[in-house]
Amino acid sequence: MTNTHPLIQVKNLDLHFGAFHALKNVSVDFHAGELIGLVGDNGAGKTTLIRVLCGIYAPSSGEVFFDGKKIEKFHPKLAIDQGIETIQQSVGLCDNLSIARNFYLGREPVKRILGIPFLDFAKMREKSTRVIRQFGLRDNVSADDEVERLSGGERQSVKIGRAVEFMNRVVIMDEPTNHLSVREREHVNELAVQLKEQGLLVIYITHDIFQVHKLADRVVIMENGAKVADASTDAMTAEELEEVIRQGGRLVEKREAV
Ligand SMILES: Nc1ncnc2c1ncn2[C@@H]1O[C@H](COP(=O)(O)OP(=O)(O)O)[C@@H](O)[C@H]1O
Ligand SMILES: [Mg+2]
Repeated sequence: MTNTHPLIQVKNLDLHFGAFHALKNVSVDFHAGELIGLVGDNGAGKTTLIRVLCGIYAPSSGEVFFDGKKIEKFHPKLAIDQGIETIQQSVGLCDNLSIARNFYLGREPVKRILGIPFLDFAKMREKSTRVIRQFGLRDNVSADDEVERLSGGERQSVKIGRAVEFMNRVVIMDEPTNHLSVREREHVNELAVQLKEQGLLVIYITHDIFQVHKLADRVVIMENGAKVADASTDAMTAEELEEVIRQGGRLVEKREAV
């Protein structure tokens, strides 16, 4: 894995919101086929960092490379075109539309009858049914049902299925299991591993090191806008990493200073 170039490379990233210094000289590499835990307390800068990767914020300084190419313009549409999808707990699906419609939101297939474009409902239904079965929706849920009917875990499954179907290369999960039951959380975690096994880069954001340590290949810890640790899960236990978080990164700084 290390001899391939990173899929996303972040170099010396700084971001200011007015006088507030939200990201401080962050450098980190992400490889395809990796599941990375991005961990830190509330306000650490995790969401801000991934919003740069999704083209929502442009950095004040520093560089981001995607597949070896420097990103010159930060725009959400460009990020989506490159195959970067973010999955958040609260957004991403429209409750009052069917699962099939949600699946294709913004990418609806069209068929032409006498030259007039119509949404291709049959195609939407057929493809989304196959994918939602694969990603573990109840048998009595159909692609025509409104998303409103789905449990929190099933909603995540629709978003994850969509990411796979549209051949995204990066799936960012920002606190994906907040408000989910234990069983649903397990399901979402299994899906994260499945995505990685299909060769995608999965960035899994959480404030809970114990939740992600068992899934992740590597954990990146942020604190006050800075990266304070970046360790393979083979090299550091969850308890050791928790201590890093508790010390606000001072442990690592001390080690590096020696
Ligand atoms: N658009 C914004 N304008 C000003 N401050 C912001 C903005 N977005 C985030 N912040 C601040 O940046 C810090 C990091 O936020 P965030 O990245 O959301 O943290 P995390 O996701 O790790 O909980 C917080 O102090 C937050 O208040
Ligand atoms: Mg956040």
